[in-house]
This record gives sequence, structure tokens and C-alpha cells, in this order.
Amino acid sequence: MAGLIPQGFIDDLLGRTDVVEVVGSRIKLKKTGKNWSALCPFHNEKSPSFSVSPDKQFYYCFGCGAGGNAIGFLMDFERLDFPQAVEELARQAGVEVPREERSDRRGPRPSRQDSPLYPVLENAAAYYRQQLRHHAQRRRAVDYLQQRGLSGQIAKLYDLGFAPPGWNNLMSHLATDNTEEKVLIEAGLVVENPDSGKRYDRFRDRIIFPIRDSRGRVIGFGGRVLGDDKPKYLNSPETPVFQKGRELYGLYEARRQNRQLNDILVVEGYMDVIALAQHGVTNAVATLGTATSEEHLKRLFRVVNTVIFCFDGDNAGRQAAWRALQSCLPVLEDGRHVRFMFLPEGQDPDSLIRHEGQDAFRARMQQQAQPLTEYMYRHLAEEAPPTSLEGKAHLATLALPLIEQVPGSLLRRLLRQALQERTGMALDDLAQPAPPPAAVTAPPAVDDEYDPGYADPGDYRHYDEAPDWDSRAAISRSSPAPRAKRPEASRSVESPVMSAARILLHNPHLAGLAQQASSLANEGDEEAQLLIALIDTLQKNPKLTTIELLARWHGTALGVELNRLAEKEWLLNIPTANLEQQFFDTINRLMAGQIDRQIQHLLDKSAQTPLTNEEKQQLRELIAHRHTPTAGS
Ligand code: UTP
Ligand code: MN
Repeated sequence: MAGLIPQGFIDDLLGRTDVVEVVGSRIKLKKTGKNWSALCPFHNEKSPSFSVSPDKQFYYCFGCGAGGNAIGFLMDFERLDFPQAVEELARQAGVEVPREERSDRRGPRPSRQDSPLYPVLENAAAYYRQQLRHHAQRRRAVDYLQQRGLSGQIAKLYDLGFAPPGWNNLMSHLATDNTEEKVLIEAGLVVENPDSGKRYDRFRDRIIFPIRDSRGRVIGFGGRVLGDDKPKYLNSPETPVFQKGRELYGLYEARRQNRQLNDILVVEGYMDVIALAQHGVTNAVATLGTATSEEHLKRLFRVVNTVIFCFDGDNAGRQAAWRALQSCLPVLEDGRHVRFMFLPEGQDPDSLIRHEGQDAFRARMQQQAQPLTEYMYRHLAEEAPPTSLEGKAHLATLALPLIEQVPGSLLRRLLRQALQERTGMALDDLAQPAPPPAAVTAPPAVDDEYDPGYADPGDYRHYDEAPDWDSRAAISRSSPAPRAKRPEASRSVESPVMSAARILLHNPHLAGLAQQASSLANEGDEEAQLLIALIDTLQKNPKLTTIELLARWHGTALGVELNRLAEKEWLLNIPTANLEQQFFDTINRLMAGQIDRQIQHLLDKSAQTPLTNEEKQQLRELIAHRHTPTAGS
């Protein structure tokens, strides 16, 4: 079994395998022309969109996109990993799978498959099993298991054992010399006292739960005291073959008990897994005293599409649930489902199913397991109740970074929609990619009316009389007509700068088409500062959406102002082109105002001292610039 399978062998094997046979022996195929078709085994459907091509030696589902060769089919249909699928095909073809030595560039590395720890761990499991049957004190162990409601059959299925009292039962049984003892230490079965160097059995006077990997090999153990001593459970330490962050107790046994698994229940303890199985819920697994990791979830999703977490209803359970949710997000491909179930306080799956039985437990699961989306928002709403605009923005701050981690685009969309429903903000529309710049590249020129037409710098002394862009005239020209039922109509009319900020807030892509924010930076006015801050932020982070902008300033005075602006959009319905026009109009005016002020500054100066050549040049440039549109260039 050691080493890699040579590619040549895999090619040969595929060459002598017929994918139609492999698929046809597992699902019912119907000849349709050159190909064969069937109801897809990988998703629910009423009319067949699954097709197998003998020519291409390939299967494909037009419904769900599943497809591949014979190995791929076995992996997906039988839930096998790659080597297992190859083994299976080879078995059918009546050939032996050759293995080649790993030719690692970095030199030989002990592979998990090669490890000498496997046979040792297997022997240890056999020893503990034996002790449960034959040890003089076996009665205590058997009584304990019976008192916890477990049958001999279940004990056998989970291969439970008994580590007898005493310091070196296992060691003297399995090791005859120092080298063998060292292997036991490496396997985590024997502990060496660092000071005295004394060696002794790790598991003493405990019920033993062998932990198996997905292929059924023993990789570690859990051990429970028979009474109330502490620690209640002891687990194998991490070893080269046992990583707690990857392994799940009961997964192998769940697969053995179910030819086809649809969902897996994740619980907290060994005894929960076993008690559930005892009562007919044979699809439970447990993490090994660690939080659920991304690695755990990847492993589970290789086997099923639905994972249901079952947590205690106490504080620790709620914390564990949230951590589990965070581990789920990065592995949430479309088609995968996660649900969260919280048990009544003081109960665990073991006590609950013993108390209420399988049917009630299943009904509870059906009723109470919340979909991930629901749980996520329920949890977030505790911190950020979306009852005010502030709260909504806060909710978005919390939710968006989580949503972004989800790889499945449909799921991401779903989560966004849920956020949209809860905040009332049109996330989806606003998160659309910006339209191609061509559509808006022609920003309106500065109004003729506004252009004072000073061609000669000397005339600039009359600049003061130039119409103020922020006058009522400017407002009536560029500000949208307020709707009759607009509740704030009685309040002050929005200034063009605030309109521009609002437009930008809802059309963040416009910032990319505007003048560099830095060239507007010395606008002193507060409203202009807000607009410039928005432009600046968007130019530096072009992908930000409205809600992300709101989230960014959440909790600040500016944030309050932005929220107020954002809310207005819901009451107005103005064609986009007009809004863009209005936006650039304002930017151009701000820009012109800045230039005018610089010009004025130089002119004021020239009234006192003659300008340097440099300053004169600057003045010429400013005046030339004053007459060209500035935004959108
Ligand atoms: P719990 O303390 O919830 O115990 O530990 P339990 O599963 O209900 O155990 P019983 O019913 O009293 O037998 C849950 C899991 O946490 C880990 C174990 O993996 C256990 O199954 N644990 C707990 C330890 O590793 N060490 C401990 O001392 C306690
Ligand atoms: Mn328990």
C-alpha cells in the first residue's frame, strides 16, 4: 500500500475500464443515441440530464455540471478518495495496484501511509478490546457502558475497549525492548516522565474509544474514567498520524453504517456519537475536544452536502457555534448546506436522545436546526440590531466581511440578499460592476452662465462678482425637484455638494471618473470635505459598495451624515444620467472654485509685490485650466 500509484498504471486502468459499465452497474442507464442517459445521481431531478459517453469515456450532467471519468464517478458516487477509487477499479479489473516510492525533491519524508505507528495502534486497540472481554475487572467497565444505555452490539461497532488499572499493562504487552517502547511513546500510548525518565501507560482504568481515520485505520484513542475523576476524558496527543484539527470521531463508523449518507450531524463528545447511534441516529461525528476547523469541514463536505451542527444551549455552546460558522464560510461552495441546532440548556445529544428517543430527536432537528443564513443574522443582530439606520450600517459592517469569505457565488448572493432584506438597502444593484467609462466619460462642461469669461488676467480683479456656485440659482438648476411626499421637504434644501455626495454614495463607480480627490483637498467647507473624503476613499478602494462605505464610517459623525444621505435615495427616483450629470457638475464647480481661489491668491499677491516668473507661469496655467472641464479627464 505504500507510495504513489504510478500514472502509467492509472492510464492503463482507465484504458481497460468502461465508464458505461462502471456507471451502469450503479445507476440505471438508458441508451439515447450514441450515449447513455439517466437521472443524475448527484442532484435531484425529474427528467434525465445525466449522460455517459462511451466514446469519450466521460460522464456529464447538464443539470448540475457534475462530470468526469470512471475514477471521478467512483469518487463522487461511492464517496471514495482517489487511491480508494483506483483500488476499486483495479479490483474490478482483477489487477493489483502497484506503488512507487515517493521521489520527494526534499528527500524522503515519512508518509502517513508508511507510518510504523499504524500496526502499533491497531495492536493497542485489539488489546483494549480484549481487556473489555477478559480482564478480571471487566465487569466494572461493562456495567458502566450498560448503565449509559449502550448495547454490546454498539460497543462492538465502535470497537470500545477497556484500559485496565495499572501503570504498564499495555507497555509490557506490546513492547519487549527500549526501541519498541519508544514507538509506543511516539504513538502517544506511553508517557515518559521528563524528569525521572520513567515510562507508563497513558490510558489507565478507562473506557477506550479508538479513533479511526476515514479508511478505518486506528490513529488515536480517547479514554473516559468510569466514575467522576478528573480529567474526565484523556485523548491521544497529536502524533504523525493523528491531527485533532483534521480528524472526526465516528466518521468512519458513520460511513460503515450508511451506504449513502445525505447529511452528517456534528456533536461535541464521544458519548454523544455513540448514544445517537444506539438510538438509530447513525450519522453523527464529533470533533476531538477541539473547535471545528475548516479542515474538518472540508473533510465532511467530501462526504455529504449537508452538515448539521448540534450545540449545547449554554454559553460555551453558543461560542462554539459561532466559531464553527466562521470555519464554515470559506468552504461554502454552492450546493453545500450548514445548519445549526441548539439543545435545551443542560442537555447534550446523549442525554436528549435517551430521554426523548429517535423520533422526537429527529423532529427536533427538523424544526430547530436553523439554516446558516438565519443563524448568522440572528447572531449578528444581537450585536447590531438593525432597528435604526445606524444599526443597519453596523450590521452590514459585521456581515460583509463574512459574506466575502464564501466561495459559492449563489450562496454569497443569498447572504447579500438576506442582508439587503434586513437593512433595506439595495445592495445588489449597487454592487454591480461599474459601467464602462465610455458611457460617462463626457462630463458636462462648466456652464457658460457661470464662466465669467475673463481671458485676461488683468480682469480678474472683478472675480469677486462672479456668481457663487452655491447660490440658490445653482441649486434650482442642478438639484432634483423634491417629491411632494418627501418627509424632509420642509427641512433645508440639499446643497449641490451634498447631492453630489449622495449620488456618489449610490454610484460609487463615479469616483473613478472624477478628478483626483487630492486636487480638491483644500476645500475648507465641511460639506465639500465630506464629498472629497468619499471620492478619496473610493479612488483608493474602487470596489467599495454603498453599504461598505456606510460601514466604513459607521459610528462617526460623518457616518451619521452619510446614513442620512443614503436614506434619501430611497425616496428619490431620478434617471441615472441626470444624477451623473449633476455629480460632475458639482465636481467641476468645486474644481473651478479651487482654481479661482488660487488665481485670486496670486492676484492679491501681485497687488503687493511683483510675481516671480514661476508664479506668472502658474497663473497662466491656472487661467487656461479654468476654462477646460476638469472632472472626468
Ligand atoms: P463533555 O464534558 O461535554 O462530556 O465533553 P460529554 O461528552 O458529555 O461526556 P460524558 O457524557 O460525561 O461521558 C465533550 C468532549 O470534550 C472532550 C471530549 O472529546 C469529550 O467527548 N473532553 C471533555 C476532553 O477531551 N477532556 C475532558 O476532560 C472533557
Ligand atoms: Mn454527556
